[in-house]
Amino acid sequence: MVSDKYEKISALARRRGFFWPSYEIYGGVSGFINWGPLGAVMKRKIEDKFRDMFLRRLGLYEIETPIIGPEVIYVASGHLKSFREAMVECNRCKKRFRADHLLQEFANLPSHETEKMTLKEIAEALKRHRVKCPECGGNLSAPQYFLTMFKTTIGPYSDAVGYGRPEAAQTIFVEFKRLYEQVREKLPTGFAVIGHALRNEISPRQGPMRLREFTIIDLEFFVDPEDPCCSLLEQVEDETLNLVLAEERLKGSEKPVKLTVKEALSKGYIKSEWQAFFMALAKRFLMDLGVPEDKQRFIEKLEWERAHYSSQGFDQEVYLDRWGWVEVSGFNDRTDFDLRGHMRESGVDMRVFKPHENVRVRKERVIEPVISVIGRTFKRDANKVLDLLSKVNPNEVEKQFKKQGYYMAGEFKILPSHVKFVEREVKETGRRFIPHVIEPSFGSDRLAYVALEYAYTVKDGRVILKLPRDIAPVQLAVLPLVQKDGLPEKARALYKRLIDEGFSVEYDEAGSIGKRYARFDEIGVPLCITIDYQTLKDETVTIRDRDSWRQVRASIKSLPEALWEYFRFKRNFEDLGTSL
Ligand code: GLY
Repeated sequence: MVSDKYEKISALARRRGFFWPSYEIYGGVSGFINWGPLGAVMKRKIEDKFRDMFLRRLGLYEIETPIIGPEVIYVASGHLKSFREAMVECNRCKKRFRADHLLQEFANLPSHETEKMTLKEIAEALKRHRVKCPECGGNLSAPQYFLTMFKTTIGPYSDAVGYGRPEAAQTIFVEFKRLYEQVREKLPTGFAVIGHALRNEISPRQGPMRLREFTIIDLEFFVDPEDPCCSLLEQVEDETLNLVLAEERLKGSEKPVKLTVKEALSKGYIKSEWQAFFMALAKRFLMDLGVPEDKQRFIEKLEWERAHYSSQGFDQEVYLDRWGWVEVSGFNDRTDFDLRGHMRESGVDMRVFKPHENVRVRKERVIEPVISVIGRTFKRDANKVLDLLSKVNPNEVEKQFKKQGYYMAGEFKILPSHVKFVEREVKETGRRFIPHVIEPSFGSDRLAYVALEYAYTVKDGRVILKLPRDIAPVQLAVLPLVQKDGLPEKARALYKRLIDEGFSVEYDEAGSIGKRYARFDEIGVPLCITIDYQTLKDETVTIRDRDSWRQVRASIKSLPEALWEYFRFKRNFEDLGTSL
């Protein structure tokens, strides 16, 4: 049987320590993987790249927050109501499946159709297409909803219900007030969490692409909805994006249009400038991870596909050998949905105050009670009436007067002789509002797998992992040409020096030099440094490039500085020494 790229990469990943399924000694549990000694470093470097591009360079911050949260958070966020999938059970083998996935796989229905189906429509479609259990061919139960959040109790109290966070975003929203103060009440501003999230997937079968526990990168970017302009747009406005627009999808096509950011905004395809900015940045991020432009696209979510909090959403998808187009990140305009929900449930005012540059004066129509008449009419209840009148809408009172000749303030009948309508000047020093949120969100396990798949290359029957040099888990290998004549001692001294300079380096003297090069090519080490007899004479070494197998000769003395420049993309391989 011919194995596909995913199988080949999985085999390599398991053998060399990138990733493999967790708990294998007990038979494994699907939806959980380990990142091994090489994979964990690579994944962290990808996350660091995000930190550099999306946080450090934009002056935004990362925070660290808990994974478990009390139930009320997910009441406020709407997840308890919406974070669910339709599930069916096989009546014979009792295995459970996501109903929409079965319809996509066995009835060829597109996901944008299955996602809008009600339980009744799903049941009908399963019947109509005669979908059976994919494991044993048994009949399936009626579909029912399954909440895909992990539930637990916090401490020894069964009523203290908690949930594993299905996204990190909520742990940022609940801290918004404090964070906003810490950045000295500045908008726009953004905070990211890079941490684990939990989703109790019904039947995950896609290795690192669909996990029950995974690393999410959520960046919540808070903006003033009345000031939607992206101050950084200039940096990306000519960047092109492959967009699969909702209007095209509604016609049944997935044909992308290639537009610059500027064009996509001016045509109204992307509504928020900040959302477009982050999409362009994400395209560059994925290109830096090795995914060419034509293997990336942004697909606009249809109304019924969007998360419950989103007013416009795009998924960034990457083409993968086994699964076709797969989502690696999402860009949503979350409006004020989340902060409003937490304001409602917690009672904490999530609004911010933005002072006007100059005090604004506006005219306001107010009710002025005629105290003497009200006192005479309502006597002991006069204060109650005054209080009620201070809260009513003058326009509404006037309307009722016109309609029926009086206005009922609670149980009290107010007549036109009880009040006057006056115009008053109000000085406004600023505006109070709930910020809106633009959210880029990545799955870093997916990014790490994508980087591996795009790096996986076969040359002369051997695997070379052409990982971008800044995410390669091992940067350098130091190799004595032979195990004698003082070469190992010289090589070990260089190894120590490079370690001391902060590089991640491996030392290897076992086997022929060709076999050692092959071992390091297979795990993506960008450069091998060989110590040979010439080194003993003139303190120079051979540096070999993983991708081209070309070699240059360089002096040991200036090596650390040259290598630092190389790994920061400030120097090419050819400029590391003299070509051989
Ligand atoms: N916070 C992004 C997501 O839930 O997918």
